[in-house]
Amino acid sequence: MSDRPLHESGDPSAEVLPGSTGSCGLLTAEPVDPLVGSRIDAYLARHPGGAERLIPLLHLAQATLGYLPVAVQEQIAARLGLPLVQIHGVVSFYHFFNTTPRAKYQLKVCMGTACFVRRAQALTEAIRQVLGVDPGSVTKDGLFGLDEVRCLGSCGMAPVLTLDDDTHGNLTPGDARKLVFGLQARARRQRVPEPSERVDE
Ligand code: FES
Repeated sequence: MSDRPLHESGDPSAEVLPGSTGSCGLLTAEPVDPLVGSRIDAYLARHPGGAERLIPLLHLAQATLGYLPVAVQEQIAARLGLPLVQIHGVVSFYHFFNTTPRAKYQLKVCMGTACFVRRAQALTEAIRQVLGVDPGSVTKDGLFGLDEVRCLGSCGMAPVLTLDDDTHGNLTPGDARKLVFGLQARARRQRVPEPSERVDE
């Protein structure tokens, strides 16, 4: 074990790291949005209790900000007196929590066992090739996000992916490509031209 100071929780996996530090002493990627902070505080004041408030707080923070950056996870960890590693474990376990900003079209490929053995990774690869993004990231235009997640609860249709709230199953890589091409075409139809692109009537 290193001689770095420990996180206040005493959890050795949550050592204090050098660099800019956040509210609970861990490295912070960005400042906490004040609106999220005030809503967290208001919720805690209305609902005294313990760690059972974690999931509702995560939902609240995500509903406010759209996703759960490290700084927000830190703040929730500090407020509940839980190690950050525990918060991160919960966030990464549930597919409905996002740690990156949501894209207009959010694609989540299931990597649970049933999907994995039916070549779900080929779906990820097909989408990655079309969009040029790796899992966990968003295209530069903010239109498409790609994630790999655990079981989505539709194992009978493996391999499975979700597009926002819709589940698509029994997919081949070609199906995944076709789905993305269709979304790209829809995005092009809906695109509002830049002022410099408009032709005077
Ligand atoms: S393993 Fe993919 S839906 Fe269950």
